[in-house]
Amino acid sequence: MKALITGATGFVGGHLAKKLLTDGWECRCLVRNIGRAAGLEAMGAELRHADVTDPNTLRGVAEGADAVFHLAAYGNVSTVSGDEETKMRRVNVEGTHNMLMACVNKPIKKFVHFSSTAAFGLTGRSSIDEDVPCAPLTAYQHSKFDSESILKSFCEHSSVPGVIIRPCMIYGPGGHQGQFLKLCRMFKRGVFPRLPGQVWLPMVHVSDVVAAALAAFERGATGGVYLIAGARPVSVHDFRRWVVDTLDMSPPYIYAPASVLKMAAWAVETLSTILRRQPPVTLANVRMTLSSRRFSTEKARREIAFVSSVEPEQGVRDTVRHLMDEHLL
Ligand SMILES: NC(=O)c1ccc[n+]([C@@H]2O[C@H](COP(=O)([O-])OP(=O)(O)OC[C@H]3O[C@@H](n4cnc5c(N)ncnc54)[C@H](OP(=O)(O)O)[C@@H]3O)[C@@H](O)[C@H]2O)c1
Repeated sequence: MKALITGATGFVGGHLAKKLLTDGWECRCLVRNIGRAAGLEAMGAELRHADVTDPNTLRGVAEGADAVFHLAAYGNVSTVSGDEETKMRRVNVEGTHNMLMACVNKPIKKFVHFSSTAAFGLTGRSSIDEDVPCAPLTAYQHSKFDSESILKSFCEHSSVPGVIIRPCMIYGPGGHQGQFLKLCRMFKRGVFPRLPGQVWLPMVHVSDVVAAALAAFERGATGGVYLIAGARPVSVHDFRRWVVDTLDMSPPYIYAPASVLKMAAWAVETLSTILRRQPPVTLANVRMTLSSRRFSTEKARREIAFVSSVEPEQGVRDTVRHLMDEHLL
């Protein structure tokens, strides 16, 4: 089997490419920086210098590919800058369109598109499955939602057999830029408050996401969307407890009512916008967290036989230890 992978120099793409290479797949990785993919090349990957925003660099890339795994994306969940929004649209929306164009009339078995539960936005529901209508709020959420619309349109009007996976927050070794690390650092500094009520924080281990991508390739329906989440819902309270316990710390954990949290986030966001800085947190971030969502993986279980195999507490503790070993926590 031959795979074409975008985003292989990133967190999830790196795990996916290594798994495929280990399993004996041939992998062609489209990368902007060849040096960053030296490890994959040493494992036997073919590297092609390409940028998904530049269609000229994508000519012929899908030749001979059985599977396309499209992970390249730019994401910033707390941006308020117009430049950042433009960049997200260029990479996430136009980049997906360009990749799909490069795959038209090629005998690809499946184009697996990595979307995100971010595409849901703020639905007003706490229990969410694939039938819940999306209501994207932030620029990142809009870009992931629009990338899905493009993929669905190619499925309807072209020969490309696309399938969408929507993972929630992904954690695991190697995720050095993401939300998980940001939250762990906030817990460690004691700046993450005790939230009102039982707040769920959907998360999934990177090895589960890799398994889901392979399952979507093998069994996903063309045009299908599959939610990917961990074995069971994790409350923010438990998540924090596992993190600080593994760090062997007891930082402050002060209760803050929802209204105070929203007001504080609004103030931080407004001030950051005036100062033209990236806000550490936005009002949208707080609203999303407080919406306490739980995602159903029933459809993924039924249709593509995806079952999470990582026990959340073990996965979180192992990841925290890994981040400590890397001196990131
Ligand atoms: N991490 C999460 O919690 C999460 C949750 C749900 C969904 N997802 C989705 O899963 C996918 C992978 O996420 P991730 O966390 O692995 O992201 P990541 O670590 O930020 O990696 C992004 C990858 O995209 C590549 N890329 C960015 N712009 C590009 C361009 N113009 N042309 C070609 N490649 C480009 C980057 O290459 P460079 O190395 O050159 O920068 C990098 O390899 C994304 O689609 C994301 O939306 C992630």
